[in-house]
Amino acid sequence: MRKRDTWKSRLGIIMAVSGSAVGLGNFLRFPVQAAQNGGGAFMIPYFISLLLLGIPLMWIEWTAGRFGGGFGHGTAPGIFHTMWEKNRFIKYFGVIGIFGPLVIFIYYNYIASWTLAYAVFSAVGKYGQAADQESMVSLLKGFQGIEKNEFFSNLQYAYLFFLVTFVINIFIIYKGISGGIEKLCKFAMPTLFIFGGIIAVRVLTLGAPDPTRPGWNVLNGLGFLWNPDFSALKDAKVWLAAAGQIFFTLSVGIGVILTYASYLKRTDDVALSGLTAASTNEFAEIIIGSSIVIPAAYIFFGPHQIQNIAAGGAFNLGFVTMPLVFQKIALSAFFGCLWFSLLFLAGITSSVSLAQPSIAFLEDEFRISKKRAVIIFGIVSFILCQPAIFFLKHGAVNELDFWGGTFCLVLFATVETILFGWVFGIEKAWEEIHHGADMKIPKIYKFIIRYITPLFLFSILGFWFYQQGIPTILMKGVDQIDKPYVLGIRLMLLGMFVVLAIMVKIAWRKRPQRKANK
Ligand code: ALA
Repeated sequence: MRKRDTWKSRLGIIMAVSGSAVGLGNFLRFPVQAAQNGGGAFMIPYFISLLLLGIPLMWIEWTAGRFGGGFGHGTAPGIFHTMWEKNRFIKYFGVIGIFGPLVIFIYYNYIASWTLAYAVFSAVGKYGQAADQESMVSLLKGFQGIEKNEFFSNLQYAYLFFLVTFVINIFIIYKGISGGIEKLCKFAMPTLFIFGGIIAVRVLTLGAPDPTRPGWNVLNGLGFLWNPDFSALKDAKVWLAAAGQIFFTLSVGIGVILTYASYLKRTDDVALSGLTAASTNEFAEIIIGSSIVIPAAYIFFGPHQIQNIAAGGAFNLGFVTMPLVFQKIALSAFFGCLWFSLLFLAGITSSVSLAQPSIAFLEDEFRISKKRAVIIFGIVSFILCQPAIFFLKHGAVNELDFWGGTFCLVLFATVETILFGWVFGIEKAWEEIHHGADMKIPKIYKFIIRYITPLFLFSILGFWFYQQGIPTILMKGVDQIDKPYVLGIRLMLLGMFVVLAIMVKIAWRKRPQRKANK
């Protein structure tokens, strides 16, 4: 069998999976979700979803990925097929595990490029020109090309930073698993934690800035998130938001962990490593992530305004509120640079993971060299990134995020869980998880993986479909002027899915029967 890439060290793979997990979701999406869903009301379903969905899916993906990798498959079509050999169709469900991350990649990469731009703007004092919330929003819109204003008259800066970010991504992917991704994450993850620690300490030691409002202090800011509110547990919307955040933040249900784990050796541990990666992500999210944006926004803008800003969009808190907060404290350029560099590192370690399933698919199933795979991926994904940039104001990113970053995750996770716990079989699955394991997983998880996780997933899928899916399909709430763009994006996505499915068909027609590489 052809020799596949491998990880150099156990620390390397843990850092890489944590790097994929810790991303813009931890520092930008999490505070917005928490604020929009009532702060303390959000955290109870969040922790329940972590225990019943996030952690089981982490174990499922690490184990299935290592299993499929033993047969030379690094992506879901091949991995699913090795788990259910008799079924001819399961490989087409696996297409979601390449399609989903590719869709997220084509907009995530652009958002990551804004953080690089804002790190530079912090250093040169660009956003010092915007003194209040309204002008900070204008600056962001001008930069994104949504409007022409005194800050920016066209998209050229945004495009320049996109190009730089895109090239960095391609360069790292080209360097490979151990030479690129592992090296990047070993440097980026500790750096990111140090930057996050410094900013969190600075925010937590801020006094109440407005003497007329002593209640607007850090302690109340933390209380906004951590005082539990049991009354909201009846609200399905809060549960959906919490479960969605768990998927997004842990990078489960996407397909990237399957690919990363496929580069493990059969004797490598997955039980403890999976748990360690999940814990690292949760540390970044609930210790560092929650100590920065929410308390900072609370003490400067108060409990009501914080929800209004969050309602304005997932990026307002990070790109609008934080620069305003930094302007009000000493060493603003330094803290601004630190914050946006942290976001950039978090973004890039996630975006390279989103690209890897496409690369692995080309390498493993078409037997082409890494160099050719990266060139093909580079050209195709560059073209696919353009609508997110040029049609942002027409809702392109939201549309891509719904299908790639929301719908596909839940669907894919459901397929994986059923396949793992029911088709592959829970006894075999349990044995496989514990092969080479450095810890024994509590037995209750056997029951959770088989019954609770799929039940939870089916309920989410049902509610999601009912509450968001149907209105979304019917383009409810989309402005008339944006409808052709939204439709165009959907046709593009459909085209991508069909092309990937055809590629799977072609690859399988040519492929020899694979034997496990023990
Ligand atoms: N898990 C990644 C994030 O949180 C995608 O941003």
